[in-house]
Amino acid sequence: MALRTIDALELGGKRVFIRVDFNVPIDEHGKVGDDQRIRASLPTVKYALGKKARVILASHLGRPKGKPEDKKKYTLLPVAERLQQLLDQDVTFADDCTGDGVKKLVKELKDGQVLLLENLRFHPEEEGNGEAFAKELASLADVWVNDAFGTAHRAHASTAGMAKFVKEKAAGFLIQKEVEYLGKALTRPAKPFVAILGGAKVSDKIKVLDNLLSKADAICIGGAMAFTFLKAQGVPVGKSKVEEDKIDLARSILEKAKAKGLDFLLPVDHVCATEAKETAKREVVNDRAIPDGLIGLDIGPKTLDRYRQRVLSAKTVFWNGPMGLFEQKPWAEGTLGVAHAMADSQAVTVVGGGDSAAAVEEAGLVAKMKHVSTGGGASLEFVEGRELPGIKVLEE
Ligand code: 3PG
Repeated sequence: MALRTIDALELGGKRVFIRVDFNVPIDEHGKVGDDQRIRASLPTVKYALGKKARVILASHLGRPKGKPEDKKKYTLLPVAERLQQLLDQDVTFADDCTGDGVKKLVKELKDGQVLLLENLRFHPEEEGNGEAFAKELASLADVWVNDAFGTAHRAHASTAGMAKFVKEKAAGFLIQKEVEYLGKALTRPAKPFVAILGGAKVSDKIKVLDNLLSKADAICIGGAMAFTFLKAQGVPVGKSKVEEDKIDLARSILEKAKAKGLDFLLPVDHVCATEAKETAKREVVNDRAIPDGLIGLDIGPKTLDRYRQRVLSAKTVFWNGPMGLFEQKPWAEGTLGVAHAMADSQAVTVVGGGDSAAAVEEAGLVAKMKHVSTGGGASLEFVEGRELPGIKVLEE
């Protein structure tokens, strides 16, 4: 179903409540680390400001447990500072998201001004989707815009509950773009469609795999989940991480892939070490099998080259999950190599959020992708084919 987007609404002089996902890392100096999610909200925020709306922004940050010390750790104040720089205009910061103080600030808001509310999750009613709380948030607004794709898989007060208490609602441009690339581009992909899946666990990716088995022409596997598949084929994997209780599941996926006639590629060589440490000696094992005593920590150069060729000859590529322990430099080549292959490809390239998005950012290749999702859990659930509550309420 087509989503109504913010540009279909009259915004001038109205109080426009935009739910954004500003759940960003805060560094040890109390400053925003990676600001991708803040930048991703700018098209919607700037559009509303350009239309002379009175913009109220709300988000969660982290998972505060309601303890007083959490207030300092999870405040959105550093985000207000970063947003102010990015917008190049003043951002008023409210020290709560409900109450008389907030109402007063909203009342004082002038056309074209912006107010950022404090972390919604300082109130348990946010995650509990409390009706009174949702109503109170809705009372601040004439229009509700949801642009928090990263949180669209949560049925919380600000992402779903508010919808029924507002007169007008619409999706922001970020949700529109995410739905277009994770939805349309992958549901009816230009062929060949190649999926690259990595990460530690088969269990985390099982539903995505299931969905992609009926759409992709090739699936390339990396990360520790590859070892569960290799073990299911009887290939020795040394001391590598294996989900022993998922070996049967892995075997059934391999059988399904074979029955569908799609190429299911597993690593043919590995970068290993005796321990998963940055200082450990790097050993390239030029074989599918890993000798006893070694742990596979990254895909090897031959595997990377095979995956790269697939990416270069594809018309659509979806990537989710790192190829190895990429947080540590010696084991990052496979993951960064996939990012470069995607950057060099002419295909519609879609990167799922979380670790793969972080790798693309680290490689400085964001602008070379067609789409880098801002959703971790949300992008996975969406590609699994699940309905996201934060989007469903926009469709009703
Ligand atoms: C995310 O980072 O995936 C979203 O902001 C959702 O956060 P949550 O998993 O704490 O609900």
